[in-house]
Amino acid sequence: MRLLVGISGGSGIIYGVRFLEELKRAGVETDLIMTRAAKETLVLETDYSVRQVDALGTHVHRIDDIAAPPASGSFRIDGMAVIPCSMKSLAGIAIGYEDNLLLRAAAVTMKERRRLVIVPRETPLNSIQITNMLTLANAGAIIVPAMPGFYHRPKSVEAIVDHVVGKVLDVFGIEHELYERWKGPIST
Ligand SMILES: Cc1cc2nc3c(=O)[nH]c(=O)nc-3n(C[C@H](O)[C@H](O)[C@H](O)COP(=O)(O)O)c2cc1C
Repeated sequence: MRLLVGISGGSGIIYGVRFLEELKRAGVETDLIMTRAAKETLVLETDYSVRQVDALGTHVHRIDDIAAPPASGSFRIDGMAVIPCSMKSLAGIAIGYEDNLLLRAAAVTMKERRRLVIVPRETPLNSIQITNMLTLANAGAIIVPAMPGFYHRPKSVEAIVDHVVGKVLDVFGIEHELYERWKGPIST
């Protein structure tokens, strides 16, 4: 399997980092595209450097390299996740404004009818943002909001992050042990 991983400047950059780590563990080949805001947010929110995150991707593309392979539908790829997805990138994908490689690759993923997973991060949401999500869901994208569940009783921030990352891996059918699946209530 080969996946495109777009990381944009939403809060929760750690979701994108953990996703890349898990894809590497699972032996999935990745093409990483980080926006400028994502790189800024990474440094503000985490102890990771851009170099460390780049090292997690099999292939790394510059955000302004509009001639990179993922810009074309002829490039063989199984799908794409934008994790986290800022409201700006969400808007760009929803209206087809393909002015950087992440937005172009997302548009290509959809036109080729490949799986596109969007992990939006914002709260509260205005009606424009909600409409953009609906537009994308209607166009076939899978919206996996960064809305962790708590039914697995997380004991750490890492476990909360991993629940969201696990849900994205689930969409692509990638095996993981990031959270315990619901088996029904424990009988007393
Ligand atoms: C620390 C930090 C946190 C941010 N969190 C969010 C967020 O949760 N959601 C969002 O839509 N934008 C957020 N932003 C703003 C985006 O980074 C900004 O709109 C940027 O232009 C997005 O560009 P991109 O989509 O090309 O990455 C944040 C910015 C910073 C610096």
